[in-house]
Amino acid sequence: MSYKAGSVIILLTLFVLPQLMEAYFDLPPLPPPEEYGNILINRTSEKNNVKAVSFSHWIHRRKYTCRVCHFELEFNMKTNTTEITEALNRSGRFCGACHNGKDLFGHDNPADCERCHNGKKDHGKEKFSELLKFPKTKFGNGIDWVAAMRDGLIKPVNYLTIKPPEDITFNKRIILEAEWTNIPAAVFPHKPHNEWLECNICHPDIFNIKKKTTKHFYMTRILQGEFCGVCHLTVAFPMNDCKRCHPGMGH
Ligand code: HEC
Ligand code: HEC
Ligand code: HEC
Ligand code: HEC
Ligand code: HEC
Ligand code: HEC
Repeated sequence: MSYKAGSVIILLTLFVLPQLMEAYFDLPPLPPPEEYGNILINRTSEKNNVKAVSFSHWIHRRKYTCRVCHFELEFNMKTNTTEITEALNRSGRFCGACHNGKDLFGHDNPADCERCHNGKKDHGKEKFSELLKFPKTKFGNGIDWVAAMRDGLIKPVNYLTIKPPEDITFNKRIILEAEWTNIPAAVFPHKPHNEWLECNICHPDIFNIKKKTTKHFYMTRILQGEFCGVCHLTVAFPMNDCKRCHPGMGH
């Protein structure tokens, strides 16, 4: 290859590629920052003549890590798959573990039903301004949640009632080499993940270490919601933020 062609490819990789690739990979459109991570739960609501339930991740994650809900309280990481019912909520499970009418609004007072059953994806957006003091990023909520935790601006709770396990520190940073030439490797740092998540949220269902699933980590599969895409499409910073996973890429 000529010297000139080589440098054109390097230039493409480092500077232009992310933009081209963004179009190439067909990234899903992003909602406004105050709606990123907000969902409407509607497995049973409308069928039972109440409006769909609004749930916002940014409202909750500044107080609780993911492990509280997705490990201890057994919510699935896929909307409308957990069998949440109003009876279970009232008995203290699911939303009712916190929304119990004592510490927080609960499930008895008819005036409170609409705080959850309002069918509005942007419910609570007026509170988003409280987050503007946090370190910024370009995509998703526009908030660097890793830095907010590291700097002590938020101190989310890890467990509600279960006894925290003995300290299990596993900080290995894994380099995931691309199979494409000229694509800087992706990195997977365990540390920031373990601050939010429990090992068994990822192992073995999302990442089977024994089978070494690494070689199947294609962007197309991630964008379909597999592997990193379980979280990095809807709640953790989105796929648009190439450089945060591929530190060698241009802006
Ligand atoms: C803290 C949030 C929250 C509050 C407050 C709340 N609900 Fe729910 N409710 C839910 C969730 C979550 C579901 C599951 C919804 C789904 O999957 O569609 C649900 C389900 C329901 C259902 C569907 C059928 C069933 O029994 O599961 C009805 C009816 C219902 N709620 C009525 C009410 C009424 C009436 C109130 C007020 C007295 C209320 N809810 C208050 C969160 C809430
Ligand atoms: C206060 C409870 C709570 C916390 C904290 C929480 N989640 Fe969730 N999450 C939920 C609920 C409830 C659902 C919907 C479950 C259902 O409908 O079956 C959900 C759904 C999801 C989904 C599916 C979203 C979609 O668009 O379908 C992902 C991904 C997810 N959570 C990741 C996370 C991550 C990552 C964290 C930590 C940064 C986190 N959650 C923290 C309660 C929580
Ligand atoms: C681990 C505890 C916890 C669980 C579980 C939890 N919440 Fe919350 N939720 C809170 C706290 C604390 C707040 C108040 C946050 C604030 O104002 O900063 C809150 C606030 C809210 C709000 C904002 C309401 C308003 O009008 O201000 C909604 C809506 C809500 N929760 C819905 C839900 C639903 C639906 C579920 C179950 C799917 C759920 N929450 C599960 C702790 C929890
Ligand atoms: C949440 C982390 C994450 C983000 C964000 C991310 N990637 Fe990837 N990407 C990966 C992983 C993991 C792989 C597989 C291992 C590897 O090839 O480095 C990968 C692979 C690739 C590959 C190699 C081809 C393939 O499909 O395996 C290309 C090209 C690529 N990414 C481009 C991008 C571009 C462009 C962006 C931004 C628009 C981006 N990536 C954002 C994690 C990410
Ligand atoms: C957010 C998801 C996630 C969480 C949480 C997580 N891991 Fe991992 N882990 C990964 C990924 C991705 C890999 C690389 C998988 C591969 O190469 O196939 C990995 C690889 C590993 C490996 C193999 C290391 C190697 O050198 O190949 C071990 C051991 C491991 N994890 C242990 C843990 C332990 C212990 C915890 C909890 C303290 C944990 N992991 C939490 C995603 C996670
Ligand atoms: C189970 C959910 C989950 C999965 C799966 C997951 N992540 Fe994450 N990741 C998170 C959360 C939560 C954070 C904290 C930052 C945020 O929420 O925006 C994070 C943070 C990161 C960071 C830290 C950036 C920093 O500023 O320090 C990197 C890099 C990253 N993820 C890459 C990956 C890659 C690559 C994969 C796939 C191999 C992956 N993640 C899979 C949830 C997940």
